[in-house]
Amino acid sequence: MDIVFSAATMHYAGRVALHPLSLSLCERRIGVVGLNGSGKTTMARMINGLVKPTDGRVTVDGLDTITDEDAARGKTGLIFQNPQHQMILPVLADDIAFGLKNRGLDKVEIESRTQAILERFGIAHLARRRVHELSGGESQLGAIASVLVTGPELLILDEPTNQLDLKNRAMIERTLAALPEQVLVITHDLPLLDGFDRVLVFHEGRLAADERPQTAISAYKRIASC
Ligand SMILES: Nc1ncnc2c1ncn2[C@@H]1O[C@H](COP(=O)(O)OP(=O)(O)OP(=O)(O)O)[C@@H](O)[C@H]1O
Ligand SMILES: [Mg+2]
Repeated sequence: MDIVFSAATMHYAGRVALHPLSLSLCERRIGVVGLNGSGKTTMARMINGLVKPTDGRVTVDGLDTITDEDAARGKTGLIFQNPQHQMILPVLADDIAFGLKNRGLDKVEIESRTQAILERFGIAHLARRRVHELSGGESQLGAIASVLVTGPELLILDEPTNQLDLKNRAMIERTLAALPEQVLVITHDLPLLDGFDRVLVFHEGRLAADERPQTAISAYKRIASC
């Protein structure tokens, strides 16, 4: 699926978070790196339409995130920097079912899709657990399940391995590698991007490099050491 930024810009109260950005993304595995505050989350939220460009436009599969807002948003799923912040209902299975209820599916269909996604991610045993009691790795998997159950074509993850121990980090890495969906990952965990098709480096609200992983990571390291 194509994501196109056309001179897309984001200002917050006169401060520029993202300078005019023009690029087209269609790869299966896209990484985004950069220093804190460089504009990564802003850029990712613009794809999902949670942040609307103050100038320019963003399209997802040809749908404008402002004028075709609902259709464009249905194409993508975003996992927040803290996945617990996006869980709406207190029990994991109910939270997963919530997105399906909103789409008007009947009860039997909702139950079978919820059960199938819990099993797909090996978390059926967590179905009745309270989301705020889940560990970091469990919340990350639960949030991925909640988002993917609605069938987005692109999954955007904002620092999915942040705060995870080595075991959960490896589990998330394996989970992402196995996803058939297109994936865009923002991360400070550089080895996670091994084998990715394309890595974008942001610096001070601008795209500073756009390369294969090793070349992009070298550019990022040069920026970080200045
Ligand atoms: N809602 C907001 N209101 C005002 N300024 C904001 C808002 N969101 C982001 N910013 C500013 O925009 C700039 C880019 O922020 P952004 O969250 O995109 O950075 P980031 O690259 O994701 O950083 P991090 O690695 O710390 O998550 C920062 O200067 C930030 O302070
Ligand atoms: Mg961020």
